[in-house]
Amino acid sequence: MLIESMRDLGYTLETALADVIDNSISAEASEIDLLADTNPANPRIAILDNGHGMSEAELLDAMRPGNRNPLDDRSSNDLGRFGLGLKTASFSQCRRVTVATRTPNGLVCARWDLDTVAEADDWVVEIYENEPDIPWLDRLGDQGTLVIWEKLDRLAEADGVAASAEHVIRRIDDAANHLELVFHRYLAGERGIKRVKIRLNNRQLEPFDPFNSKHPATITGPEERIRLRNQDITVQAFTLPHHKKASPQDWARFEGRGGYLRNQGFYVYRAKRLIIHGTWFGLARQTELTKLARVRIDMPNQLDSDWKIDVRKASAQPPMRVRERLRTIIETIGATSKRVYTARGRKLVTDDRIPVWRRVQDKNEIRYVLNADHPVMSEFSSKLDTDLRSQFRRVLELSAASLPVDALFADLGGQPEAVSSAKIAEDDLAILVETTFRVIAQAGTAAASIPEMLRLAEPFRSQWERVEPQVTSLVQESATT
Ligand SMILES: Nc1ncnc2c1ncn2[C@@H]1O[C@H](COP(=O)(O)OP(=O)(O)OP(=O)(O)O)[C@@H](O)[C@H]1O
Ligand SMILES: [Mg+2]
Repeated sequence: MLIESMRDLGYTLETALADVIDNSISAEASEIDLLADTNPANPRIAILDNGHGMSEAELLDAMRPGNRNPLDDRSSNDLGRFGLGLKTASFSQCRRVTVATRTPNGLVCARWDLDTVAEADDWVVEIYENEPDIPWLDRLGDQGTLVIWEKLDRLAEADGVAASAEHVIRRIDDAANHLELVFHRYLAGERGIKRVKIRLNNRQLEPFDPFNSKHPATITGPEERIRLRNQDITVQAFTLPHHKKASPQDWARFEGRGGYLRNQGFYVYRAKRLIIHGTWFGLARQTELTKLARVRIDMPNQLDSDWKIDVRKASAQPPMRVRERLRTIIETIGATSKRVYTARGRKLVTDDRIPVWRRVQDKNEIRYVLNADHPVMSEFSSKLDTDLRSQFRRVLELSAASLPVDALFADLGGQPEAVSSAKIAEDDLAILVETTFRVIAQAGTAAASIPEMLRLAEPFRSQWERVEPQVTSLVQESATT
C-alpha cells in the first residue's frame, strides 16, 4: 500500500530519471547510459552506470523504502537525502524494477514486481544467482549498476490507450532534453566537479547552459554570498543577450521550454544539480521587461531542510533570511534588464532630431505621439487652410491615441524578431526623402549637415543604403544652386 501510494508523489518521466541519475553520480559514475527499448508492446528503460556498485546486502538495503535517515549528514557531493529516490522514482513510472549491480566482489541481481508484491501481500524480492534474461546485462562493466524499468504503465498509456512507439520515443527524447539542463554543469565538467557523460541510446547529451554565459553579449553580475548556518549560498545574475545581439539559432535555443518570459527567474542548484528554475519565488512578477534575467543560486546539500527540498528534488523554497537578500538582488537586475530593452528606444529618441513619433514621459506615464513638427507633416499642414489644418491635427491625434499598444507588447514578447515597421514603396520613399530634405534646408539648416540628421531618423535609418545615394545627390544639387 505504501509503495502504491508513493507512485503518485508527482514525478514526471524526467524528474524520475534525474532522481536515478543522481544515485549514479553519487556512486561516482563517469558514464551513464539511458537505454530505451520503445517497442510499444513492452517498452522498457534502463539507467546504466559505471559507479562503484553495491554488494548484495547494500542492494537489499537500497531497495528498502526509507533506508536512510533524512537528518543524517551526507558528504557534500552526495545528491541523495531521503533514502527514497530509487524506489519512489522507479515505481512512479513502472511496476517492475530490476537492479543488477557489480562490485569487485561479484554480481547481484534482484527484482521487485508490484504485481507479485500485491499477490503475496509482502515486500517480495526475487534474487537471481545465475541471471535470467536480464536485458542489457551485457552492457554492465566491471563495476557499476543497471536499473531496469519494465511494465511502464505510466509511460505506455496515453489517455488510457496503449501509446505508439513514436509517443514513447518523443517522451523519452523530451526528458533527455530536460536532463541536458538539469545536469548541465556535470555534463560540462565544471571546475570542482567530476565530468559525467550521459547518453540516450547512442546520442550523447550536450550541456545546456541556461545563462548562455560564454556569449559576449551576456551581462554577468557580481557573485554574491549569503551566509546561512555557517554555509555559503552564492547568487549570480545573468542577463541574456537581446535578440538583436544573438544569432537566430542562439535566440531560439536559449529561450528554453515555454519561452523567455516563463524561463526568467531564479535557477536553484543543489550541489550543482538544478532543482527548480523559472520562478521569482513570489518576490517579483515575470514581466516582459525582465524576461532576459536569470539568476543562479548555488546551495549546498547541508541546507536541504532550510530550503525544503522535496523527495523528487524538483522543488525548493528559499529560507526567510535568504528571501530578503534575494529581493534586493531582484531590484538591481530589474534595472539592468530594463536597460537592455530601453537602450535602443532611448537612443532612437535622443539622437533623432526629426522624429515622426515622440516618446513623452511624465511621472509614471509613457506615451507616444505623432510629431506635427516633423518636416513632412508641417509642410503638408502649411498647405492647408485653417479649417483643414485643425482637422489634420485631429487625424494625427486619433492615430497616436489608438496606437495598438497591447498587440505590440504581445507581439514583441512572443516573436520580437518578426515585428517590423510597415514598408514604404520605393517611389514614396524617394518623395519622402526629397520633401524632408527640402523642408529642413528651407528652415535654414546647412545642406551638408542634413544627411546626418536623416541617417538617424526613421524611416530612413533602417534602409539607409537605399536612401543615401539620393541624399548625396540632393546635397550636391543644393551646392550648385
Ligand atoms: N546506481 C547506484 N550505485 C550505487 N549505489 C546506489 C545506486 N543507486 C542507489 N544506490 C544506493 O542505494 C541507496 C538508496 O538510494 P535512494 O535513491 O533510494 O536513496 P538516496 O539516494 O539515499 O536518497 P534520495 O531519496 O534523496 O534519493 C543510496 O543511498 C545508495 O547507497
Ligand atoms: Mg537517490
